[in-house]
Formats: sequence, structure tokens, C-alpha cells
Amino acid sequence: DCGDDIVVVSNRAPWVHSHTGAGIAAARPPGGLVTALEAVLSAQGGCWIAHGSGSADRATCDGQDHVLPEHLPASYRLRRLWLSDAEVDGYYHGLANEALWPLCHRASVEPVFRASDWDCYRRVNRRFADAVVAEARSARPLVLVQDYHLALVPRMVRERLPDAVIVTFWHIPFPEPQSLARLPWRDALVDGLLCSTVVGLQTAADLAHFSAARAARAGAAALSSASARIMPHAAAGAYPISIAWPAPAVDDGAAARRRIDARFGVPAAARLLLGVDRLDYTKGLPERLRAFERFLERHPHQAGRVTLLQIAAPGRGAVPAYQRLEREVRALAARINARFGAAGRLPVLLHLASVDAATVLDCYRACDACLVTSLHDGMNLVAKEFVAARDDLRGALVLSRFAGAAAELAHALPVDPRDIEATAAAIGAALAMPAREQAARMAAMRAVVRRHTVFGWAARLLEDGVRAASAARRQA
Ligand code: G6P
Repeated sequence: DCGDDIVVVSNRAPWVHSHTGAGIAAARPPGGLVTALEAVLSAQGGCWIAHGSGSADRATCDGQDHVLPEHLPASYRLRRLWLSDAEVDGYYHGLANEALWPLCHRASVEPVFRASDWDCYRRVNRRFADAVVAEARSARPLVLVQDYHLALVPRMVRERLPDAVIVTFWHIPFPEPQSLARLPWRDALVDGLLCSTVVGLQTAADLAHFSAARAARAGAAALSSASARIMPHAAAGAYPISIAWPAPAVDDGAAARRRIDARFGVPAAARLLLGVDRLDYTKGLPERLRAFERFLERHPHQAGRVTLLQIAAPGRGAVPAYQRLEREVRALAARINARFGAAGRLPVLLHLASVDAATVLDCYRACDACLVTSLHDGMNLVAKEFVAARDDLRGALVLSRFAGAAAELAHALPVDPRDIEATAAAIGAALAMPAREQAARMAAMRAVVRRHTVFGWAARLLEDGVRAASAARRQA
């Protein structure tokens, strides 16, 4: 137990403040991670450190870069780190999103390796680590490091606070040895992570890849006593992330459907297919659109009777691969609508913007099937959120075999998203699924998500971190 000395460190902040016409607004990114870690911090006390990027982020901070209590709808400290444009470019766009993201995902975008980005990544990781040390209230804080933006932070903190309990969670796939071998700075990256007390991965496959990287480094470290000294034997495990349970209650599905129809222009009589993603090339959006097109080719009488509502929230727009993706997705949607649409009746409704959590929940409740066709995904929480939203036990889930969630949601309709023909068939099967089968599959999937919530995820990680640290102390 770490009293009030818990420090969470992540690139994205749990709260972003913006100037609006009506004053300053506080926004929280959707998703369970913030919910779970805020619950831990609010219960135990502690500090969250993250990049401040909102237009009113500075205006809502005190002189020590802590968000003023009147602007923080939660009871912990939120410490912001300010990054220059050059730092955002090299560390975030460059190393994190042009090198590590494509390196870790099998999605046929080539990683870009620039030595200047790596230098910048190291410098920014150092700044995050400095902030952790400054915020720690004892020599033995519990530090929770989030994701691939901050791989060097565990080592940088360990060098200054040797007794810290450092729990690092890698949210995205961990690359297999052949992929990792392409990263010129792989040794430093792996050494950075190995200075954690516990490294959490999403799935057994990710854990195997991480263990292979560790084994390779352990051999190398044996040759160099300097690195052996700094590298304690981090424990590693699979900790599939999840969502809060129960899902927020919704009134009936028919009301949700009416709101969705009004907001997005879905014809009231149409069956509704749903996609909700970040606009990212790992999500298989072009493949999903092609599969829907193939479905309409095979079942032309369905044109006009089925609508695909695809919501895709843009981000990382400075990276060229994301600009190309947006053009491709728009062009495909336009082609399908030209081929199969008619006046006032578009088969694809493409909404390239983020939407609020209440609307996403309505979408989950209103649709006939949810399509999650990532080419590769650490977990994919949309799949779990959809299941959690369906307490009516209706609706079908089409789920990529290459999303981490597929290991748990065995009662979805599994697809290889690159197999357009098979995905088209799965769309047909989802739309034709009898109500009893929908209910049986949904009940089985809901039981899994109910048992494994994000609160359980956080508790397991923290317990294992604290336990591993005391075991190490006993051995020392
Ligand atoms: C993935 C990553 C997160 C990241 C999120 C959104 O889920 O694992 O660390 O925050 O994508 O991406 P962004 O670049 O907008 O933060």
C-alpha cells in the first residue's frame, strides 16, 4: 500500500481544457482507462502527469503546472507538462507515431526511423521522468507508466528512485523479434522497459514477444556488468485491459435508434451496421468498406435496406499515412454511394469526427451489428463497450481475429479483415442472425466482460507490482 504516493504518467491527459464561446470547458477522453486510473488516484490520492495540449490548459494551471482544483472534477493532482512544437513533432508525431506505432502493428505502413526523432523522444521521456521524481512524495512511490510514448521513463525513474515500484503498461501490440529488430534503438527501448517492476502486456502473444526481447537482452546484459546493475528482473504478464461495468444505462433501444436516425440521417426502415474507430490505418477501414461493397454486390436487393454508419475520429493528422488514409476512406465511401445509393438514400454514412460518449452509446444500442475489423489491435475496447451496452441481448459483433479482444470474445463472428469475401459473408451472417442466437452469443460475451472489468485490470497490475517489489526487497 502506497498511501498517497501514486504517480500516473501518460502522454494524453485525463482532462483537457479548452476556451469556448461559453468560457472554459473541461473534456475527458472517452474510455475506461481514465475511469479506472482516476478511481485509483481518487481513492488513494496521488498525481497524474501528462502533456498539456488544450487551448485553456495553461489558463487552468497554477504556477507549478498543477490544474487548479476548481477546474479539476476529480480529487487528485493533475500536473501538466508543456511540450514545444518541435518536441511534439519529434517525440509524438515522429518517434511514437511514425516509428513505433507502425513497427508494433502489422498493417503495411512502413515505419520511419529518424535519429533526430529518437533524440527528441529521449529528451521528452527525460522531462516526464523528471516530473515523476518531482511529484513523488517518498523514495518508494508507485509509478504507473502508460504506453509506447514513454518506454524510457521506467529506467530514467529507476536511476533516481531505485526503490520505486514501477508498473508499466504497454497498450498496443508488442512486436515480434523480427519486427523489433528493425528498430535501431531497440536495446535502449527494451532496457528502458526492463527497469520496471512489472511490465503489463495485453495478450499472451504480446507477452511471448516481450519475453523474447527480454531474453535477447538478458544475454547481451550478461556481457556488460554496467547494464546488468541497472536492469532488475522485471516481472511481465498479460493483463487484458477492459472497460467499466455496468455500462451507463440507456432508455430503450428504439429511442436510441430514433436519435441516431435524426442525427446522422439513417433511413428509419434500414438495418444498421456500425463502425466506431479512430481514423487509423490499423483499424481496417478500407477493408471494411470493401467488404460492405462486396456484400451489396452479392445482395443487390439489400441496397437501400442496409446502412453502414461509420464514425471515425481523426487524429495524428500531421503524419502522411493518416492523410492518405483519409483520402482513401472518403473515396471508397463515395464510390459505394455512387454505385448503390439513390436520392436521399446513401448506403455509407461517413462521419469523420469524434462524437460524444452519449451518442456512441446510442449507436451501440441502435445498431443491428457492430463491425470491428482491425488489421491488428492491442485490445479494441469498442468491441467490449458494444457488448456492455447490449443488455437487451440483441445485435451481433463481427470481430477481427487480430484484435486482442478476440482472445476473450469467442462468441463474436470472427473474421480475417483482409479476406474481403469472408468479411462480406460475416456481414450477411450478422444481419441474418436469429434473435435466439444473438441472445446466446451476447449473453456469453457479456459474462466475460462483466467478470473482467478495467477495475480488476488495475487491481491485478497494482497488486502484482507491489508484490514483486516486496519479493525483490526480501531477496536483496
Ligand atoms: C491508442 C494508444 C493510446 C493513445 C490512443 C489515441 O489507443 O494506445 O496511448 O492515446 O491510441 O491516440 P492519440 O495519438 O490521439 O493519443
